[in-house]
Amino acid sequence: MNILVTGGAGYIGSHTCKALAAAGFNPVVYDNISRGYERAIKWGKWVKGDLSDHAHLVRSLIDYKIEAVVHFAAYIVVGESSSDPAAYYQNNVLGTLSLLSAMKQAQVKKIVFSSTAAVYGTPKSVPLTEDHPLEPINPYGWSKFMSEKMILDFQRSYGFQGMILRYFNASGADPELEVGEDHVPETHLIPLVVRAALGGKPLQIFGNDYPTNDGSCIRDYIHVSDLAQAHVLALQKINTSNQSGIYNLGNGSGYSVFEVIKVVEAVSGKKVPTTIVPRRVGDPATLIANSSLAKAELGWCPKYAELETIVKGTYEWELGREFRSGL
Ligand code: UFG
Repeated sequence: MNILVTGGAGYIGSHTCKALAAAGFNPVVYDNISRGYERAIKWGKWVKGDLSDHAHLVRSLIDYKIEAVVHFAAYIVVGESSSDPAAYYQNNVLGTLSLLSAMKQAQVKKIVFSSTAAVYGTPKSVPLTEDHPLEPINPYGWSKFMSEKMILDFQRSYGFQGMILRYFNASGADPELEVGEDHVPETHLIPLVVRAALGGKPLQIFGNDYPTNDGSCIRDYIHVSDLAQAHVLALQKINTSNQSGIYNLGNGSGYSVFEVIKVVEAVSGKKVPTTIVPRRVGDPATLIANSSLAKAELGWCPKYAELETIVKGTYEWELGREFRSGL
């Protein structure tokens, strides 16, 4: 079964292509390489293309006999979305509309969508369940919210089947280190803590005055290969049933910034240099997922739930960076 993977050259996209291939699907990566890497396309063909190119999307869906789409391609930096909302609405919202319309035209009606906990905004209570009110607090979250809405409307009006997956904090690297996290600029906590341990810039801790045990923010870190597996399960579900669904994907346990630093120090055997700086705008104190629904309905069972395993993956990936850059 041929699956179009938009953003398949990116972080979660490339890990998902590996999981899809292992499960017997044929991924076809649709990516413009604006944020991803050609070297991360290791499973399946690459179609160089932009989401805004509706005609190219329709042609690709038909030419490659695509039966379902996994849609990752999007901008993901929360801060950047506030300084340049137009880029986020253009790429994420209009890009998704272009994709959905192309799918409608090509009669491809199954989609698995990469969404985010950012659609919830500031939690009213944790752990978050899927019925928590959706009140994003930044354009990135709104762009994903609007994309979700379009998918729900295409389900209602055109018979689409959609699986909306709301990720918490994606992290770690492929256990075989065939792919990993390579954002530029990197803004995510775990790679930045690891880089600080390896002699990079001291980690800036964004606030130590939150209403948490140690004053730093708490997040639910989920291994990227476990996220990838959820996409495989979601695809299998839409292939074997007429169901659609919305699922949170997290481990259900939260770690503070200071706790993450401790784990990185234990894994690396090195002290992490830090400085405390003011809070980053738009950071909720605590984000923890309730993922019972994904477990019950998709049979999802995270394999790499330990924070230590996640950190070890990032550590090894970061250690290999110099080696890979010489390739
Ligand atoms: N943090 C620091 N210093 C840093 C980087 C991060 O203290 O240099 C803190 C943040 O304040 C936050 C935590 O570490 O409390 C995690 O920050 P990340 O930037 O790694 O992740 P976020 O929780 O901000 O956001 C991530 C994804 C978003 C997604 C969100 C959903 O990047 O795309 O999870 O939960 F929307």
